Amino acid sequence: MAFPQTRLRRLRRTAGLRDLVRETELHPRRLVEPLFVTAGGAPRGSTDREPIASMPGVQRLSISAAVQAAGEALALGLGGVLLFGVPDAKDEEGSGAWDDEGVVQLAVRAIKQAHPDLLVITDVCLCEYSSHGHCGALGPDGAVDNDATLELLARTAVSHARAGADVVAPSDMMDGRVGAIRSELDAEGLLDIPIVAYSAKFASAFYGPFREAAQSTPAFGDRRAYQMDPGNGEEALREVLLDVAEGADVVMVKPALPYLDVIARVKDAVRLPVAAYQVSGEYAMLKAAAAAGLLDERTAVLESLTAIRRAGADIIVTYYAKDVARWLARP
Ligand code: PBG
Repeated sequence: MAFPQTRLRRLRRTAGLRDLVRETELHPRRLVEPLFVTAGGAPRGSTDREPIASMPGVQRLSISAAVQAAGEALALGLGGVLLFGVPDAKDEEGSGAWDDEGVVQLAVRAIKQAHPDLLVITDVCLCEYSSHGHCGALGPDGAVDNDATLELLARTAVSHARAGADVVAPSDMMDGRVGAIRSELDAEGLLDIPIVAYSAKFASAFYGPFREAAQSTPAFGDRRAYQMDPGNGEEALREVLLDVAEGADVVMVKPALPYLDVIARVKDAVRLPVAAYQVSGEYAMLKAAAAAGLLDERTAVLESLTAIRRAGADIIVTYYAKDVARWLARP
């Protein structure tokens, strides 16, 4: 036989064949768009949409602008939005997080009233609300006190759910927080509110642009005493399996593209939906390369997100969600 009988290129010859055999699809329903919401009316008395320098194309939104953005997300068929609050004032405790009149609570109410069919997920953490910018309460030694933080996170989750959040997503990386939040939600009769746990959240340089957006850079130190070491894959599985045992409904890996191996291992290890967060630094890299003319943005973004899906993510949180929905509608 002069030639191989098996020729894999046969199925690559035309667009029709390639479409027919494609294993991994992107769909807007699988994408969640993060929204940064500021308290009160126009942020800092300027406009309803304040650009974020580190994240071109993303803005901090007033509540009315967030309602509008949520309407666009719904119209584009996105899976949902994930709300981050940027409060006017911060304090040592981060009490704005569980304030029933806090920025996320007000935003959830306004969004659900205008768009009851849109799925609204809230980020549950203290870093945007505390003056020190850490994800938990500080103990007398100045370190984050794990167990003292649990009650505050649970209170925050209940407050979000009471305001109308469909899903809560704790991103703090305290030990035991999924169980603490589940118990408190259940005790308050909020049995049907799912928890998307940021289970394998790594201490990553790729969160840099987000911290400018959410004004949540730690005032001192870093987050390595609670977020995971980037070298650890086995430990990521331990984190995920613990969250499953504590009652997580969806587990998340974050960041996404540098951690595709972790996504794949997690997908193999659990029988739950897996989410991945294409974080601010991943977004900023693609934006910067595209702006410099070094990459074709659309192709590079679709390829990155397809790779994250292929690795095993059922759900992707991405700042590109709306762009992708538009691109998929006009191939
Ligand atoms: C808050 C939180 C962070 C992100 C999501 N939730 C920042 C951090 O841990 O410092 C990062 C999201 C992104 O970079 O897009 N705990």
